[in-house]
Amino acid sequence: MATNQTLGSKIISSYETAVENHLSAEEPARYVQFKDRRLSGDMSLETMLNSSHGKFLTTWRGVPLMKDCFDLIITQQLLWDLKPQTVIELGAYKGGSALWTADIVKAYRFKSRIISVDINLSMLCPLARECPDVTYIEGDELPHPWFINEDVHVNVVGLLEYLDKFTEPGDYLLVEDTNPIKPTYIGQGLVKELRYDPLGNEKLEQTLPHPWFVNEDARISVVGLLEYLDKFMEPGDYHLVEDTNPIKASKIGQGLGYDPLGNETLEQLKLFMKDRADRYHGDQYFNDFFGYVTCKTNGHFKRVWF
Ligand SMILES: C[S@@+](CC[C@H](N)C(=O)[O-])C[C@H]1O[C@@H](n2cnc3c(N)ncnc32)[C@H](O)[C@@H]1O
Repeated sequence: MATNQTLGSKIISSYETAVENHLSAEEPARYVQFKDRRLSGDMSLETMLNSSHGKFLTTWRGVPLMKDCFDLIITQQLLWDLKPQTVIELGAYKGGSALWTADIVKAYRFKSRIISVDINLSMLCPLARECPDVTYIEGDELPHPWFINEDVHVNVVGLLEYLDKFTEPGDYLLVEDTNPIKPTYIGQGLVKELRYDPLGNEKLEQTLPHPWFVNEDARISVVGLLEYLDKFMEPGDYHLVEDTNPIKASKIGQGLGYDPLGNETLEQLKLFMKDRADRYHGDQYFNDFFGYVTCKTNGHFKRVWF
């Protein structure tokens, strides 16, 4: 009869064999273009709603944080791999995820500047607000009025139609190089800056060391935000755009009813990636860590080129 010890070592060795088999299996390429990924998730609506229930009740040191079990595992592992010098979170809510990030970074013993932006910081829990390792910035991710200077010379009509959904009375558009006799050569010095700064007039490229980990969790104008940050991001920087799964509920808590987020965020990502297919690649390793079953369908991607 097998003793407890032999039974234990049998279980361990079959577990180890399974892990080894898994690790030696041929892995797909890690970074791929956005167009090579399908846009639908595999999670059933029922599982999504049930897991949302737990997600909305999740706390860290008593502070609510809106991350589910998939997010918490993947993000802590990503933080270890990337060791970002700067973490930018868009959408602080109670401050739970900023506090969690600060604690994880501290446990990992590397230094990172953690910035969390929210349109309304009055919701912050005291424990999160008092965390010395997080800088909170109150502000609209993209405050109006906007001055939009179209100077990329591609798909102007598509861009303007897209922006039409987000611009407000008082916003200003300048489309460059509309004079038919303008030479097509784009000289240096023509590049203009947009006049808004979602991070409180920081001189981003000078003051925030790379690599960056940018966690978009405010759910608005994703394409505008990504385009803005595109000017400052460097190869090696990493984006995590939350809530890209079209069946994700748009409201907090099942009791409030179910209203799917829909394809809007994924469509915005598609638009952003259209002319940047070589610059940003989806991270299949973390996108597929648990399969196509998280709230972030294709939400992990990395800047791989200038
Ligand atoms: C999903 S919650 C963030 C949850 C938080 N990251 C967590 O995991 O605990 C979204 C937050 O985005 C904020 N928000 C919404 N619109 C915004 C905007 N235009 N600029 C900045 N923050 C915004 C909301 O106030 C809200 O606190």
